[in-house]
Amino acid sequence: MAKARSTFVCQNCGTLHNRWTGKCEGCNEWNTIVEEAASAPVTKGGTISARSGRLIPLEGLDGVTEQAPRLKAGISELDRVTGGGFVRGSALLLGGEPGIGKSTLLIQAAAALARAGHRTVYISGEEAAAQVRMRADRLGLADAPVELGAETNVEDILATLSAGTVPRFVVIDSIQTMWTSAVESAPGTVTQVRASAQALIRFAKTSGAAVILVGHVTKDGQIAGPRVVEHMVDAVLSFEGEQGHAFRVLRAQKNRFGPTDEIGVFSMTGNGLEDVANPSALFLSSRDVAAPGVAVFAGIEGTRPILVEVQALVAPSSLGTPRRAVVGWDSNRLSMVLAVLEAHAGLRLGSHDVYLNVAGGLRIQEPAADIAVAAALVSSFANSVLPLDSVFFGEVSLSGAVRPVSHAGLRAKEAKRLGFSRAFAPASSSEGANDSGFSLTGLTALDSLVAEIAA
Ligand code: TYD
Ligand code: MG
Repeated sequence: MAKARSTFVCQNCGTLHNRWTGKCEGCNEWNTIVEEAASAPVTKGGTISARSGRLIPLEGLDGVTEQAPRLKAGISELDRVTGGGFVRGSALLLGGEPGIGKSTLLIQAAAALARAGHRTVYISGEEAAAQVRMRADRLGLADAPVELGAETNVEDILATLSAGTVPRFVVIDSIQTMWTSAVESAPGTVTQVRASAQALIRFAKTSGAAVILVGHVTKDGQIAGPRVVEHMVDAVLSFEGEQGHAFRVLRAQKNRFGPTDEIGVFSMTGNGLEDVANPSALFLSSRDVAAPGVAVFAGIEGTRPILVEVQALVAPSSLGTPRRAVVGWDSNRLSMVLAVLEAHAGLRLGSHDVYLNVAGGLRIQEPAADIAVAAALVSSFANSVLPLDSVFFGEVSLSGAVRPVSHAGLRAKEAKRLGFSRAFAPASSSEGANDSGFSLTGLTALDSLVAEIAA
C-alpha cells in the first residue's frame, strides 16, 4: 500500500504545493501554506467500476426548468439580487465581514420561506440553537416553522437533513466551522472547507434543496480560506457596508441563474434588515454647507440610478512618498485618474497627499465615476466649490479624453428628480439628457472639465 503522503495547501487560495514554501505561487500571499494529510484515494482496491450515465437532449429540457422553480423569499431586495429567488437544487455562498448582518438576513429569509410552507432548516455552527432562537424572537419571527440545528459535522448534518421530507431551503452558517470525517485535516483548513462544501453542494444537487453557505471574509474583501468554494457554488453574493452606517449592500459577484450587476440595498434597524426600495438619494449627505472637494456622482447600479457623494482631500504632503488612501473605490483607478490629471490637465499632484471617500459606505465599481472623482480632486486641489446644482459622470481614458457611458438619460432624469439642474457629462450623451429645466455641459476632454471648475 502506498504510504500516505501529506500535501501542502495554501490556506488563502487552495493551491497545492509539493513542499512547504514561504510564498504561495498561486496568490502571492506569504505564510499561508500549511501541511495537510492527503485525502484518501477515491477508488478502493484499484478497480474502477464505470457506469454509463443517461444523456438528455437539450431541446427536451423544458420540463426540467419548470420543475426547478425559484424560492422567492418575499424580501424584494434579496429576490432582486438572486435574480428572482433562490434556485432549487443550487448552492449559493453569502460572504461578508463578521457582524455585517449575514445571519440576520438569512434567518429573515428562512422565516419567510418557512411561513410560505417550504421545509426550511437553519444549521448554525457558530451559535447555539437557543441563540438563533433569541435573535428570531427579537426580529418577531419566533412563530415561523424554521427547524434549527447547532451542528458542525457534515455527515451528521446530512443525516439530519435526510430524515423526514426533503428540505427546500437549507442555511449553513458558516462553512468555515464545518468538518467532515472524509478528510483528516483539522477543522478550519482549506481541505476541510472544500470537502465539506463539496458534500453540501452534492446534497443540493441530488435533493433539489437550495443550500446557502455563509462565508466569512477577511478585511481585504477575500472570502478567507474558502475562496476555493467560490468556484464550486452556483452563485456568490457579498454583503457589504460600513459597521458605523446603517446601510448594507448585497451584490452578486457570480450568478449562474441571474444578473451580476444588480444590487440590493438594506438598512439595519432595531427590527432587522429592511428593504430600501428607492435608494437613489440614500448616499447623498445633507448638502447645506458648500465645501471644496465634494462632487455628486450620478451612478447606475444594475438597472437603478443611484446618486452618491464623492469626497476628495488633496493636501501638500510632508512625506517623501505622498499618501493615497481610498475608501469605496478602486485604488488603481484613482492612480490612473491622478496620472491623467497630471499628464493632460497640468495638475501637479506629485507632492500632495490624496484621500478619496465615497459617502455612506457604498463601493462604486463603475468606470463612469472617473469624472466625478476628477471633479472632486480638482475642486479640492484648487480650493473651489463645485456648483451645488450639478452631478458628474463619464469615463476618462488614458489619453485624457472623456468617453461616453451607458444610461446617460436615466442618470440625468434621476438627478433632475432629486433637484439637480445640471450634469457634467460626456459630450456625446446629450440624447434625452437635455430636458427642460436641466442642462448638460458636454465634456470631450478632461482639461475642459478642469477649465470649467477653475473658471
Ligand atoms: P449578524 O447577522 O449576527 O452578522 P453576521 O452573521 O454577518 O456576523 O449581525 C450582527 C449585527 O447586526 C450586530 O452588530 C447587531 C446588528 N443587529 C441590528 O442592528 N438589529 C437587529 O435586529 C439584529 C438582529 C442585529
Ligand atoms: Mg453570523
